[in-house]
Formats: sequence, structure tokens, C-alpha cells
Amino acid sequence: MKKAMLAALIGTSTLLASGTVSAQAKPEDVIKFRQGVYQVVGWHTRTMGGMVKGQIPYDQAEFARNAEIVAMMSTVAPHAFAPGSDKGAPTRARPEIWSDAAGFKKVMDNFQAEATKLAQVAKTAGSVDQVRGQFSAMSKSCGACHDNYRTK
Ligand code: HEC
Repeated sequence: MKKAMLAALIGTSTLLASGTVSAQAKPEDVIKFRQGVYQVVGWHTRTMGGMVKGQIPYDQAEFARNAEIVAMMSTVAPHAFAPGSDKGAPTRARPEIWSDAAGFKKVMDNFQAEATKLAQVAKTAGSVDQVRGQFSAMSKSCGACHDNYRTK
């Protein structure tokens, strides 16, 4: 009896920890979540872009903090595309995300790799020139997905 309850509890916490959208989540909620994830990604990328372009003074700690947030959010993003969330609210997600799951995974993995690398480089980058190249590589990984998996 005790054992069964424990097993049930562990089962539940594993489910929660996995971060996947539950079967009960409504498509419109998933879409809202997804757009929120990308709003956070966009916000922090814009701040870094401002520094790279010289519109905002380069601040190593601040740049690194922004890069870390984007890297963390890149691990959240795959959980914002639950099957069935292609409709239910206005969304720019293209059906190819689900019909070409392997291709989508590739651009998602690439985004995670580039964002993680930027966060690493940013930790010790004493000047903006030291983050410029990797920032550009990460920005390209956004475009690689948007070009094929997001409507105009
Ligand atoms: C693996 C695919 C993928 C990657 C990588 C990606 N995006 Fe997106 N992005 C999307 C999709 C799909 C949407 C549309 C979401 C929707 O409308 O449901 C989106 C939407 C957005 C939005 C609009 C959010 C809103 O208000 O609705 C912004 C801003 C954005 N992305 C910025 C970025 C930036 C910046 C990067 C890179 C640092 C990035 N994205 C990387 C797929 C991606």
C-alpha cells in the first residue's frame, strides 16, 4: 500500500520534472506559452544585439546574463510545440514543425548548441569583439528556423 503510493508520487513528480506539456493542456495555452517563450528569447537577444551594434555600451556581466537566459530558454523551447498546438489560437507556427519533425529537431538542436556556446563565450569576454562572432552565429540559428518553420 505504502509502496504503491510512493510509486504514484514518484510517477507524478517525474512527469512534472520532464517539463512536457500535459495531455490536458489546451492548444491555445500551449500557443500562448510558446509565444511567451519566444518573447523572452527575443527580448534578451535584442539587448545583446544592441551591445553588438554599439547602441548600448558593452557590459560583460549584463551581456553574459542575457546570453544565459537565452541558453536556458532554448532548452524550454522544445516543450512548447506539443502535437495539436498547430491551431486553436492565432499562431505563426507552420505545419512543417510536426510533419517534418526530424528537420525541425535539427534546427532546434542547432539553436541550443549556438545559444549554449554564446553563454560560455560571454562568461569571459572582456570586449564586445569577443562575443560578436558567436552572437552572429546564434542569430543565424534563429533565422534558420524562422525561414522554414514560421509564417511570414
Ligand atoms: C526551432 C525553431 C525556432 C528557433 C530556433 C527560434 N524561433 Fe523564434 N519562433 C519560432 C516559431 C515557430 C515562432 C511562432 C510561434 C507562434 O506564433 O506560435 C517564433 C516566434 C518568435 C517571436 C515572436 C513571438 C510572439 O510574440 O509571438 C520572436 C520575437 C522570436 N521568435 C525570436 C527568436 C529569436 C531572437 C531566436 C534566436 C535567438 C529565435 N526566435 C529562434 C521558431 C523558432
